Amino acid sequence: MAEGKKRLLTGLQSSGTLHIGNYFGALKPFVDLYGDYESFLMVADYHALTSLKDPKLVQECIYNSVKDYLAAGVDPEKAVIFKQSDISEHTELAWIFDCLVTVPFLELGHAYKDKVAKGLEANAGLFTYPMLMAADILLYDTVIVPVGEDQRQHIEYAREAAAKFNSAYGQTFIEPKEHIVKAVGTIPGTDGKKMSKSYGNTVPLFGTRDEIAKAVMSIVTDSSGDRPENVYAMHKLLKTDEELAPLYEANKGSYKALKEALIEDLDTLLTPMREKRNSITDDDVKAVLKTGAAKAKAVASAKMEDVRKKVGVTL
Ligand code: TYM
Repeated sequence: MAEGKKRLLTGLQSSGTLHIGNYFGALKPFVDLYGDYESFLMVADYHALTSLKDPKLVQECIYNSVKDYLAAGVDPEKAVIFKQSDISEHTELAWIFDCLVTVPFLELGHAYKDKVAKGLEANAGLFTYPMLMAADILLYDTVIVPVGEDQRQHIEYAREAAAKFNSAYGQTFIEPKEHIVKAVGTIPGTDGKKMSKSYGNTVPLFGTRDEIAKAVMSIVTDSSGDRPENVYAMHKLLKTDEELAPLYEANKGSYKALKEALIEDLDTLLTPMREKRNSITDDDVKAVLKTGAAKAKAVASAKMEDVRKKVGVTL
């Protein structure tokens, strides 16, 4: 990595299998951009503990996350791939932010409200989640954060945390910007609501062809229009409007044929990624994370040393 490049960072929770919303919302934008920056890709395994309590599953999800990143095209020589729990500075800085922000400020968080409304346990980790995410980003002087639309508010929280710290203790943190691909927006799931692990409406990124076909066939279509919008919304992630126009024109009202075409196009994209993924071992994952942790630690520990001095705990 060349000196002087700006930093880019994103993270994905290791809380289940990745779906195409994660891929097109965050992972692909990361892959498209990361060569131009000094880039960090983080497994948010401590964030995943807000929902996962089974240690075996937690571990399995970490292995899977790194395999997914590598299969999606991230070169570990060109990006620092690491896991959050390896760098204790993240939770340490999150605590300092927790002491700077108020409960009413955190109560404005959409993600917390949505998750609790969906029946998830309202644990304190879920509530203070945005401050751990702010720490993830700010520790690395991150300038740009590729994320899906649903994370916009979390990046605002990170900017607020930076501003609050800077005004209390002097200029320390860069205020980061989100990179959200407009054309992607919020990818709908099979029921038309936001695609999300917790809604059970996903198309799995690394599912078998059969699993993907089953998910696509279950997409809810509205019989009133010519074009099944929920199918089209996924299809346009893969092809341009111009490329899709003749297909949708020729198959007006024939939703089954359109879904079959979508399955075919998804399969074309995913087959090589799936094959690559099958060749990645648990040992490969461990080696990648070991190298990544050393690189991330060097940056995070220097930043944290400065933070500790500024808040007054260093004697
Ligand atoms: P997570 O794990 O929920 O999702 C990972 C990424 O996938 C995007 N995404 C979507 N994009 C478009 N349409 C969808 N239906 C869709 N579903 C998910 C998310 O926007 C996200 O970018 N808080 C983060 C993880 C995180 C993080 C960070 C991200 C922790 N620390 C630091 C950036 C920087 C999250 O829960 O993502």
